[in-house]
Amino acid sequence: MRCNLGMIRIGLMGCGTVAGYGHLPAIKATPGLELVSLFEPDPARGQKAQQKFGGRLFTDPKAFFESGIDAVAVTSPAPVHIDNVLMAAKYGKHVLCEKPLAMTDEDGERMVRAMEAAKLKLFVGFTYRFSDVAGQIKETVSRGEIGIPRAARLVYIWDCHGKFERKQEGLPLNQRRHGRMLEGGPLVDCGVHQIDLARWWLDSEVTSFDCFGAWVEGDEYEAPDHTWLQMDHASGAHTLVENSYSYSHTAKEQRWHYVFEVIGTKGVVRHNRDLGKFDVWTENEMKCLDCGGDKNFEGMYAQFVKALSTGESGLLATGRDGIIATRIAREATEIAIAKRKKMIV
Ligand SMILES: NC(=O)c1ccc[n+]([C@@H]2O[C@H](COP(=O)([O-])OP(=O)(O)OC[C@H]3O[C@@H](n4cnc5c(N)ncnc54)[C@H](O)[C@@H]3O)[C@@H](O)[C@H]2O)c1
Repeated sequence: MRCNLGMIRIGLMGCGTVAGYGHLPAIKATPGLELVSLFEPDPARGQKAQQKFGGRLFTDPKAFFESGIDAVAVTSPAPVHIDNVLMAAKYGKHVLCEKPLAMTDEDGERMVRAMEAAKLKLFVGFTYRFSDVAGQIKETVSRGEIGIPRAARLVYIWDCHGKFERKQEGLPLNQRRHGRMLEGGPLVDCGVHQIDLARWWLDSEVTSFDCFGAWVEGDEYEAPDHTWLQMDHASGAHTLVENSYSYSHTAKEQRWHYVFEVIGTKGVVRHNRDLGKFDVWTENEMKCLDCGGDKNFEGMYAQFVKALSTGESGLLATGRDGIIATRIAREATEIAIAKRKKMIV
């Protein structure tokens, strides 16, 4: 269903962290989008967002959906994405839903089917696709500059802002990180972005995968806090995705480590964020590329507006892309957990 309106009237569900630094500023900055309504169960959070970004604030989802909106940004926690998206389908609203799409494969399928049945668009917030780095890697590979892509390495190691709330007495657990570990750990939280990038860059489906985990911090969570995912693609290419929450989590100086590389038959394109290096090596030359930012919410919303007016997905990740990335991340995490259960006697 196209949105044949001059201005797309959008509402947002879940006025938390990513809404505050990513979605709401981008919605406000995107031509063709008007922020009309906010839904947030926590009144204090809702009011804070409303004061900064405007819009009518609701704590009743029905009233929110009946507030004259065409589309919804779902930025609530992963376990409630399904409720938000099924309601959007019922009320006839297009959706841009944050990752991971759902907690189970069945939930993801229900969400996609409900939106398809209502002839509505469902996209997933894989915002890295719109970053300068990811876009230039995609273009470099698509132009054949590195020959046929045969391998990819995506290293995304950070600490999810640390295991503990450092600013509080007695080092209480960082609740954001605690919640993400219960929802599946770093491969499900961040790894879905890298799985999506690998499929997108190599333009080839994942045909099989294996996974190994490490429990660096100890045994308190079932999910590993450091993972190595190995994926084979239909093209014959192979991808390694390394994710971690535990790297330097107790260190005073926090260190993150991000590397993206695609290795082809005739060259390599590689980005190392820590070193600020981004270059392409081909048979004949070496070119330096511009790094730019990691995420690009404005780029994503510009594509959202375009997709709703043309009916074409363009660069946006679809609900199906969301299901695939989430399925691989969850099943791979289960593989690592099962290996550990066999290993420890
Ligand atoms: N794409 C990215 O780069 C990126 C970055 C961070 C988070 N995320 C994803 O965005 C989602 C939200 O993450 P966050 O860090 O902002 O979480 P958060 O906990 O900071 O914010 C979530 C908000 O949703 C509200 N909420 C709770 N139940 C709700 C419901 N039933 N309906 C609507 N809202 C509800 C909460 O009160 C809270 O204000 C998660 O799925 C997360 O994985 C994506």
